[in-house]
Amino acid sequence: MSIRPQKPAPATPAPGKVPLTELAEMKARRQPIVMVTAYDTPGGRLADEAGADLVLVGDSAAMTMLGHDSTVPATMDEMLMLTGAVTRGARRPLVIADMPFGSFQVSDEEAVRNAIRFVKEAGADAVKLEGAGAMLSRVRAIVASGIPVMGHIGLTPQSATMLGGYKAQGRSAEKAVGLLDDARALEAAGCFSLVLEAVPAPVAGRITRELSIPTIGIGASAECDGQVLVWHDILGLYEGRAARFVKRYAEVGETIRTALTEYAADVRERRFPEEQHTYAMPAEELALFEAATSERREHADDRG
Ligand code: KIV
Repeated sequence: MSIRPQKPAPATPAPGKVPLTELAEMKARRQPIVMVTAYDTPGGRLADEAGADLVLVGDSAAMTMLGHDSTVPATMDEMLMLTGAVTRGARRPLVIADMPFGSFQVSDEEAVRNAIRFVKEAGADAVKLEGAGAMLSRVRAIVASGIPVMGHIGLTPQSATMLGGYKAQGRSAEKAVGLLDDARALEAAGCFSLVLEAVPAPVAGRITRELSIPTIGIGASAECDGQVLVWHDILGLYEGRAARFVKRYAEVGETIRTALTEYAADVRERRFPEEQHTYAMPAEELALFEAATSERREHADDRG
């Protein structure tokens, strides 16, 4: 009898995790899938408590967390550190690590090696990578190693220069057909889901209806099976120009600025710390301490 498994074993899901198969069932039930980015442990925990189904540790971290002008500089080491932080906070949602630019383009082997690092070292449940075409073999190779892959087409920020900037994609019939072909090819390559970024609603709708895997839209309309937004955009933490598709649900940046300004004023005006923020010591220990230090002071005074 052969002991060789017919299929590679997928990474073992932790108890209480959303099963990967649930996503296709949600699509079939027409139940919208909620995805949000997060980059640290409190973010993962809050996304989980808010009921997100998927948490993406996006390479948008290069911009939102690390101050770069684009997602391109994100490194494997940075993404591993951020992904590990998120997986320690998010229990129920599937945590998807975004493969940074340069970590999967060179070869199938390197893509698989880096995807495995996300699962083994950072506890990711799946990875996401941008593009189709030459990237289809990367998807096949990573899926064959037992790691679920989410695709990403439309506006793919890692190749924004090639696309002529951060612009909506698939706005001509020819380009829209190209997107539909890419979407079909990514599904055939084994993606469990597909991000559609900055794609016209009718094109997103057509792709969504054609695929059996769920589409997750960002700037791709309510025609998609789910939606994703970037943490800093939702919460009002990102100071740059917001894309058309962003909806801000809070002004947390303003709340933080007000709190820090108040704290600084309290320190300068000696209103903080107060008695309640300090530690006491037993009276007899204090007396001993004062006696010991006053003797020392006297010796020092004698020598001086
Ligand atoms: O990096 C990211 O946050 C993303 C989302 C915008 C889908 O790729």
